[in-house]
Amino acid sequence: MTATQEHPTFASGTAGDDPAMAKHGMTLTLRVWRQKGPQHKGKMVTYQVEDISPDMSFLEMLDVLNEKLILAGDDPVVFDHDCREGICGSCGLMINGIAHGPEQTTTCQLHMRKFKDGDTIDIEPWRATAFPVIKDLSVNRQALDRIIQAGGYISAPTGTAPEAHSILVSKKDSDAAFDAATCIGCGACVAACPNASSMLFTSAKVTHLNLLPQGQPERDDRVVNMIAQQDREGFGGCTNIGECSAACPKGISMETISRLNHDLLGALRAGARPKS
Ligand code: SF4
Ligand code: FES
Repeated sequence: MTATQEHPTFASGTAGDDPAMAKHGMTLTLRVWRQKGPQHKGKMVTYQVEDISPDMSFLEMLDVLNEKLILAGDDPVVFDHDCREGICGSCGLMINGIAHGPEQTTTCQLHMRKFKDGDTIDIEPWRATAFPVIKDLSVNRQALDRIIQAGGYISAPTGTAPEAHSILVSKKDSDAAFDAATCIGCGACVAACPNASSMLFTSAKVTHLNLLPQGQPERDDRVVNMIAQQDREGFGGCTNIGECSAACPKGISMETISRLNHDLLGALRAGARPKS
């Protein structure tokens, strides 16, 4: 990676015109990964932004940079986002080498109060073979969708909702299934893992169904097919390092991976084999 000598300086639109207000905001040096497309070589480009409020989210800080880039006639930095509420899993950046940055939350829920005036911040896309860069900080995460797709359907009957007490689920299992179901598919676990493994993601998707009665008919096929798809996508193997769980904004635990391994062994012993 090569840092260029570019140092454009940008201030936020609200206080940028008022020097008295501007002195209250932070001045930051941003080293941002710029890459025109999947086939192009990328590089780090340096920008300065001024008058950044500690109350801004990290994405709002990038909005300030982009507004000024656009006004200057330059190409804005492409990054993924949607809900900006920590729900959708669209956002995701390596911030100073840490997936989602210095707080265990989504990038959209990270606030600039976590940084100090004068800081230099490195901003890069998720780095994984299975997540090719589309442009700048945006990566293609469809590999995660294909893992879910490989899990197939569940045989839950449709129609009127059954009486709640007719399907008994223990509190322990329902809590664990719910915890697993909070995975938003952001991919930070892959980006944080030195092996670029998606085991935490896959285990969350397997576990939230395999713990519930509705997930039982296809449980063996689901786990072998999702693991086979994970391997086909080029994700690395899990070596129990735990960086995935430490970076996960939803706190999915390593225990979820243990459940997946348990389910996988049981399925293979029962004769389940992945579809080719
Ligand atoms: S397990 Fe956590 S880090 Fe991985 S995709 Fe789900 S929410 Fe994101
Ligand atoms: S933009 Fe939806 S989780 Fe961050």
